[in-house]
Amino acid sequence: MCGIVGYVGERSALDVVMGGLRRLEYRGYDSGGVALINDGKITSAKKAGKLVNLDKELQAHPLPLSHTGIGHTRWATHGAPNDRNAHPHLDADGRIAVVHNGIIENFAELRAKLEAAGHEMLSDTDTETVAHLLHDELLHTPDLSDAVRAVCLQLEGAFTLVIADANHPDVVVGARRNSPLVVGRGKGENFLGSDVSAFIDYTRDAIELGQDQVVTITPEDIVVTDFHGNQVETRDYHVDWDVSAAEKGGYDWFMLKEIAEQPQAVADTLLGRYSAEGSLQLDEMRLSDEELREVDKIIVIACGTAMYAGLVAKYAIEHWTRIPCEVELASEFRYRDPIIDRSTLVVAISQSGETMDTLMAVRYAREQHARVLSICNTNGSTIPRESDAVIYTHAGPEVAVASTKGFLSQIVACYLLGLYLAQVRGMKYGDEIARIMTQLEQLPEAIQRMLDEGEHVRELARELSASKSILFLGRHAGYPVALEGALKLKELAYIHAEGFAAGELKHGPIALIEDGLPVFVVVPPKGRDQLRDKVVSNIQEVRARGALTIVLAEDDDEEVAKYADRLIRLPKVPTLFQPLVATVPLQIFACEFAAELGHDVDQPRNLAKSVTVE
Ligand code: G6P
Repeated sequence: MCGIVGYVGERSALDVVMGGLRRLEYRGYDSGGVALINDGKITSAKKAGKLVNLDKELQAHPLPLSHTGIGHTRWATHGAPNDRNAHPHLDADGRIAVVHNGIIENFAELRAKLEAAGHEMLSDTDTETVAHLLHDELLHTPDLSDAVRAVCLQLEGAFTLVIADANHPDVVVGARRNSPLVVGRGKGENFLGSDVSAFIDYTRDAIELGQDQVVTITPEDIVVTDFHGNQVETRDYHVDWDVSAAEKGGYDWFMLKEIAEQPQAVADTLLGRYSAEGSLQLDEMRLSDEELREVDKIIVIACGTAMYAGLVAKYAIEHWTRIPCEVELASEFRYRDPIIDRSTLVVAISQSGETMDTLMAVRYAREQHARVLSICNTNGSTIPRESDAVIYTHAGPEVAVASTKGFLSQIVACYLLGLYLAQVRGMKYGDEIARIMTQLEQLPEAIQRMLDEGEHVRELARELSASKSILFLGRHAGYPVALEGALKLKELAYIHAEGFAAGELKHGPIALIEDGLPVFVVVPPKGRDQLRDKVVSNIQEVRARGALTIVLAEDDDEEVAKYADRLIRLPKVPTLFQPLVATVPLQIFACEFAAELGHDVDQPRNLAKSVTVE
């Protein structure tokens, strides 16, 4: 949700900032803009739409060389996505340039005061008020960082701000409350970015910025304080992936690359968790075994695809641990007065670690004294930092807006959590855990097979690309797969797609079935006969009403093949693990379907990868 970059150093600030914005464009692409300091003045350029429009603008009207700059790629909240509302926003003198991610909740009040005092606003954004407040503050506070701190104390809501001031040519100041900001430590240069991909070309040394902190970077120095000016200790960390992980690597889309990386993402998430002595180890587990033994309820909170990973997790966690497990949308969780206490384990799943709905739910859970464990893919992000424990997924950077490898690795991390709980609570013997771990370790190979057989699915997507509606059915662990298959298609292809629990079909959705309507059905493995037989009946019910059935079934399930208009074969894996293989063809299908329609697969309309507003 909005990408932000700041740079001071020897290089061309424009090159660094534009490079960073390209990497952050997944966060929003309603407009892009840059501001540079040159010869004691701010020069800026901004354009609605994707960064390619800003590139064209910069070619038509080049900006002078500068070594200090800031930039922004926007996901609109306040004000339409046009040139006028694009960031950076300047004060009336054109001395201060501000970029912002988040929502300043008291902006209407601040704006009214500023207008009453004679300030003229040129945009509809909440951000512009910050530039004007800084202007006024700098009339009596000579130091830019002091002025930023004073302004931050007046702001409510969520904000990351990055600010350049023409009178301070070698300084960029950043501030954060709730929304993310990381600092890149270079030699003779320093960087700010919404995440490390913004500066990964230049440095892999980063500093986490905490809540309510202000950072001042110059080419030689990084100073971090709280909003009252007290210097604070910072934590440095090293990014363990390199530039190539953030590039497309020959694929047409990041999403295709990320789908292809899934066997590795799953293997890396499993790596090093099972010791030679035969027990599970979760290194980042900061909750003691004693505390985990006290848990009497688990609530998984997450949004979007991550929430569907939680739905898969519920089946495994309850089965292995016998602890009741609820799964809830993070955006709903804290508004229903949930029953939680010290013995509740709240599991927050978030690829980015920055989703605001999830973060607010985490804070709420901690206020209620629940223990919070997060499952996250982004080292140093806010949600794991605010949790009692974290299990990192090792999927590498996920750039495409629609999550793929993030989803599979989240499910794997949930399995690990379930097994770990079963181990410490004595619910599973060591040899049972060893057997399950062996099955898990075979999954990358099974996922690879789904990728190798992807062409068949791509053909199907091209064949069905004129469809205006597609349904997905599943039962048990196949139900979240159906939901995820439908979500992927909605996100990417902008058509009506819905996932249903196959048994619910007869209670309403069956009315949607008409001649030729494509219906995907995920069939449980043959060992689960009761479950499987019911799904087979559901296939016949929709087929009898004219649906075109696309059946995902195990290799040797010959009986079900009879009812399949199109068949996607799945390798034999345990029922609880079937989502990891069955989801892959649905991802490939959505990706190809959208590409066939000419859509931007990596940056679907209206969406952003990291949703840092509530
Ligand atoms: C956005 C993305 C989804 C993602 C969801 C949760 O809506 O478009 O792909 O699943 O956020 O993101 P998180 O980073 O918390 O997993």
